[in-house]
Amino acid sequence: MRTLVLLLLALFLQAQDAFLVKPYLQLGDAPRPAALERLDLMWHATDAEAAWSVEVRGSKGWVAQAIPTYRRLDAPPLAAHRIYRATLKQLSPGAVVPYRVRFNGAVVFESEAQVRRPGAHRMVVFGDAASGSHEQIALAKAVLAAKPDAVFITGDLVYGRGRAAEYRDHFFPVYNSDETPLMRHVPFLGVPGNHDVPFKAWPDASAYFAYWSQPLNGPGLRPGEAGAAPVSAGVHDAMVAAAGPAFPRMASFSFDYGKVHWTVLDSNVYADWESPKLKAWLEADLKAAQGAAWRIVALHHPLFQSALSHSEDQWMRPISPILEKYGVDLVLAGHVHNYQRTAPLRFKPTQVGPRGRPVKGDFTVDEAFDGRTVTRAKGIIHIVTGAGGAELYDPWQTDVKTSWQPWTRALVSDKHSFTVLDVDAKTLKLRQLDAEGRELDAIMLTK
Ligand SMILES: [Fe+2]
Repeated sequence: MRTLVLLLLALFLQAQDAFLVKPYLQLGDAPRPAALERLDLMWHATDAEAAWSVEVRGSKGWVAQAIPTYRRLDAPPLAAHRIYRATLKQLSPGAVVPYRVRFNGAVVFESEAQVRRPGAHRMVVFGDAASGSHEQIALAKAVLAAKPDAVFITGDLVYGRGRAAEYRDHFFPVYNSDETPLMRHVPFLGVPGNHDVPFKAWPDASAYFAYWSQPLNGPGLRPGEAGAAPVSAGVHDAMVAAAGPAFPRMASFSFDYGKVHWTVLDSNVYADWESPKLKAWLEADLKAAQGAAWRIVALHHPLFQSALSHSEDQWMRPISPILEKYGVDLVLAGHVHNYQRTAPLRFKPTQVGPRGRPVKGDFTVDEAFDGRTVTRAKGIIHIVTGAGGAELYDPWQTDVKTSWQPWTRALVSDKHSFTVLDVDAKTLKLRQLDAEGRELDAIMLTK
């Protein structure tokens, strides 16, 4: 009896020690829906030999998946660790699939994965997220209660410098804890913001490229090429090695979810979307997506917004005519720490200056759209959803409409909040909710 108890205790302790970061789901390099879907499952463990395996429950019982692979990250201050990846395959679209992870033979983790839905679905979106604040935690709980099928973070994934150590402190413990088991159940997608890029002082900065697994179908930039995240040799070598093929290509990509095409752009200052290579990719991506019911562009830096903070970060505005040409419905951004919604807009740039200076142009505003009785938009609605955790900007602007640009229709800067998108082929409902689940704004778009 005593031996059995000790054995069980040993197994329990082994299970507790197995993970540095428990398993979390990623879309992986699977941009387009398929008859049989896949998802990447990742987790972090110590840098020691161990036999890991993953099983998915099918109609005839548990099915062993291909042996997990790993990349090693040895960038201080964290101890060298392994970033494991297993691809869950042969998944039925829209299904909730049980999976489990074994460590040296013993099952140490079990959960269920929400597979990409082929039609109607709920996507939750927020940005400027893992700051370690109480508000970040409260919002994560509200996101869990909203039951998303997937989550998209519009950049500034992790504060303050996108470091591996910061992911360990206040990203995974919030979005993938036993109390808020989001990432183990639904895939998180995201785009790097200005806080997620390689900072010279930190060898573990830019952990995005090593810790996330997203489509690699972007412009195909090579390390050191114009438009790619610039790294410092001798500082970021370990991070680049751990990222493998994801660096620097994973910064921009596209994917489809349900009937929605998402074009995800790295809007950081080093990426000039007016340059021929990036512009050609953007055009080709949107052109190929004309069969989608909806087109969404997601990026960190907004094109149009009303906050006084970051008011001159307008360098993404020149892409507006391309987005209009190819029928983009919605642009989702972060960077500015509040919620904002514009009227449907068209914009012709007339004066493009250096980065950080205003981009002037002519606006055409759809004044008729109200999202309730008039739901067909003539132009693009620009959303800022950067109230995901970091400190809010200028809360007073919420109640002072005279401080808003004339085309801003909603601005909430005194509450943290997130966006819920309920989308099918004909309707797109957008709601902005606070940590208590209260609705701060709501519109409907129809086709
Ligand atoms: Fe930002």
